[in-house]
Order: sequence, then structure tokens, then C-alpha cells
Amino acid sequence: MKHFTRIADLGVAGTANVLDEVLAWKRQAPGAHLAHKILGMVFFNPSLRTRASFEAAMLRGGGHAIVLEVGSGVWKLEDRSGVVMDGDRPEHIREAIPVLGRYVDALAVRTFGALLDDDADVSDPVMSAFRELAGAPVISMESAREHPCQGLADLLTVRERFGATQKLPVTLTWAPHIKPLPKAVPHSFLLTAAAAGCEVRVAHPPGFDLHPAVLAEAQDYARHSGGSVAVSTDQQQAVSGSQVIYAKAWGPATKQVQPDAAPARIATYRDWMITNKILSSASRDAIFLHCLPVRRNVEVADEVLDGIQSRVIDEAENRFHVQRVLLHRLLN
Ligand code: CP
Repeated sequence: MKHFTRIADLGVAGTANVLDEVLAWKRQAPGAHLAHKILGMVFFNPSLRTRASFEAAMLRGGGHAIVLEVGSGVWKLEDRSGVVMDGDRPEHIREAIPVLGRYVDALAVRTFGALLDDDADVSDPVMSAFRELAGAPVISMESAREHPCQGLADLLTVRERFGATQKLPVTLTWAPHIKPLPKAVPHSFLLTAAAAGCEVRVAHPPGFDLHPAVLAEAQDYARHSGGSVAVSTDQQQAVSGSQVIYAKAWGPATKQVQPDAAPARIATYRDWMITNKILSSASRDAIFLHCLPVRRNVEVADEVLDGIQSRVIDEAENRFHVQRVLLHRLLN
């Protein structure tokens, strides 16, 4: 594996293999497996868990992380091709990326989509430029298309609770928010759960479709893993009898709803907020997941986040464990 910026870099067998290794490392991790290694972490967008868990993984492994926040103590970076750079962005990523790649052993990148055109976001232009130009391994800290470390941490949490994931019914349900959010997290849960052989049920209101290319990729993984993927606009039906309820807010499909109409469209579906009443139709031993950050009582009710079925803190911890193994593979 040269880079890890999408689940496709692992595929079905590679996803299972990484999760097996992470489970083994949680029992007994090696010591200074990243000694003298440097990770350059480039943030185009803010973070709490991703930044802290990657830095912790580097430091615990005996390495070091350099954090660069674009536009905050670091030049604003232009990423468009062929533009006249007479605006407020004095450096282009075509120079910045290879320069950074010469200083460090790997680059980690967070770059959200613009949310104006789902096709453009799924083509992942900035992350693709890093893969092409870095001259060093690149790992995603969430891009316009996917958040693959999150997807692996999600499935690790599921495996820790249920053991085998084959044919396990898992529900990815849309949740309300005050504004449109990226689709990278739901894309990654969908892809990783399909690769893990789950019976994946996706539920969202009309007009909030995930990208068809990602759905097709998930269907392909499901064919190879023995899983399945079904999409509906009926939250109740999708949750019924499920073992995992994964809630996430995301914006409408840009082909179906104009970006400036998105907040009003989201407000229409306030009753999709996850409550105990919704959770009660899931399996009695179901777990609740959310990648965090979460807006309490907008996306998910307090009673769910504070309830005994919630695994959101374990899920966030698992980001650290997943990334230790991925960094080890990329840096050694
Ligand atoms: N889940 C996640 O990526 O959290 P942050 O945005 O805080 O990094």
C-alpha cells in the first residue's frame, strides 16, 4: 500500500486484514515502531479527534508530527489549475506539496469538499494532487470523497461488539443538522461496512442520495464480501431489527437540490433526529455509533448519546488504534 486515502487502497481482503492487525495491536502493540519518523499533517479544515489521534499515534510510536494549518500561520494555498494567482492565495499546491514531501516521511491531509457539486467532490481533486505530487506516502484525514480512517474505526467498533460482521444488519441513517455537511463519513461507513460483508441499510430523506459512484463501489464490495447494500427513504424500516445504528448528517445531493436551498430542505426533516423511540425498533442489543462531533438534540437526542447503547467514545478511541497500524504500514 503506497497511499491510504480511500477504502479502494485496501479492498475487501485488505480491509479485513488491517482490522485483524489492529485487534492484535490493541492486545499488544509494538513499542517504538515509528522511531525517527516524521508525519507532516496538513489541515485545510478544523479537527479535534483526527488531529489528536494522529499526533498521539506518532508520539506513542516514537516519531514526531508537524502540524500545518493552511491559512493560519501557513500560506493560503491555491488548488485550482491554470488560474491567475492575483487573489489572497500566494502559494500553489503544485509547489507546496512536493516541498513538504521532501521534509517528512509521510503526509496526512484533511481537505473537505466545496459541497457545490457532488461529482467534483467525489473526484477528490486536492487529495489526488497530494497522491500525485507528494513523493511520499499520503494518508487521508478526511477528503471530499471519503474519511477512510473513520470507516475502519467504525468497523473495528462493530467487530469488537459483535465479532463477525458477515451478514450483520447495520443501518446508516441520515440525521438533521443546521447546515449541509460533507458526505465523506457516510461514504466511508457504507464502503467499509460493505467490504466487511455487512447487510448495509442506508436511509435518508428524498433528495439526500449518496454519490452513485460510491454506491456502485459499495455494491461491488458487497458482491465480493457476501454482504449487501439497500437504500431507502424509510428510516423506521431501515432501523427495524438492525444491530448497528450509525447516524450522520449530510447535505442534499447537489444535482437534486441547489446548495442555497439546502438548509431549508434539511429543516423539513427534523423528525429524523435519533431518539430512543427510533432506536427501540432496532435489535435489543444494538449499538449506536456517530463519528463526532455531534450536535446534541439536533442530530441525536441526549438520551441516545448518554444511553447504554452508545459506543461513540470507543469509536473515537479506535481512530488512534487504526491509525497506528496504518502509519506503521505506510512508514515502514
Ligand atoms: N470524526 C472526526 O474526524 O472528528 P474530527 O473532525 O474532530 O477530527
